[in-house]
Amino acid sequence: MIALLFFSALLWDEAGAWGFKDGVLHNSIWLERAAGVYHREARSGKYRLTFAEAKAVCEYEGGHLATYQQLEAARKIGFHVCAAGWMAKGRVGYPIVKAGANCGFGKTGIVDYGIRLNRSERWDAYCYNPNGKECGGVFTDSRHVFKSPGYPGEYENEQVCYWHIRVRFGQRIQLHFLEFDVEEDPACLADFLEVYDSYDDVSGFVGRFCGDELPDDIISTGNLSAL
Ligand SMILES: *[C@@H]1O[C@H](CO)[C@@H](O)[C@H](O)[C@H]1NC(C)=O
Ligand SMILES: *[C@@H]1O[C@H](CO)[C@@H](O)[C@H](O)[C@H]1NC(C)=O
Repeated sequence: MIALLFFSALLWDEAGAWGFKDGVLHNSIWLERAAGVYHREARSGKYRLTFAEAKAVCEYEGGHLATYQQLEAARKIGFHVCAAGWMAKGRVGYPIVKAGANCGFGKTGIVDYGIRLNRSERWDAYCYNPNGKECGGVFTDSRHVFKSPGYPGEYENEQVCYWHIRVRFGQRIQLHFLEFDVEEDPACLADFLEVYDSYDDVSGFVGRFCGDELPDDIISTGNLSAL
């Protein structure tokens, strides 16, 4: 199996610095993944997963929902996410490393919403998978190069990566492919890259790509893309 996937997102309009509000805070200062723990949200956006769905997301990727102790161990080495997610046993919370007015009530530690009695509530998920490869995440930087895990080596089988790209209102996203080589089959069912222009699975679908032909540039109509 062959595979390299490599492309960059450029801002259509780079005016103004990105201001984090209570969105997911991912930047280079804090880790997006630590001690095997990582954050996941539904492809349809923030706070859309029931407990059963959150559990399924982690298990689909070969892990399970993180325990409070695993989340705290990750937090201690810099894992900071401003979005509440399901943990094991139906607990909900999020890890805060740096106190801020916008998130975590100005405190550091795990912001703990406790064990939820209503498992139909919708939150994000905190997964634990010590063997998982760095893959996917939420990106808000003005320019970013995405690589398949292990690039320039071949990617591994049975991996699913979701990259969410969000920019400010009024900005657009340009995807520019630098290198692309994904196992080819007639319907792109084995390995593929899918691009979405919004979080809508149907109307936001831009295309599915495989093979080794470099896709044309893709420019979003709005301020987010999902890959
Ligand atoms: C549980 O949460 C869901 C989603 O927030 C809500 O629709 C439902 O009414 C809640 N059920 C109970 C018993 O509170
Ligand atoms: C993206 O645009 C929508 C409106 O289309 C807006 O509500 C949202 O705040 C924008 N996101 C950011 C991060 O500016």
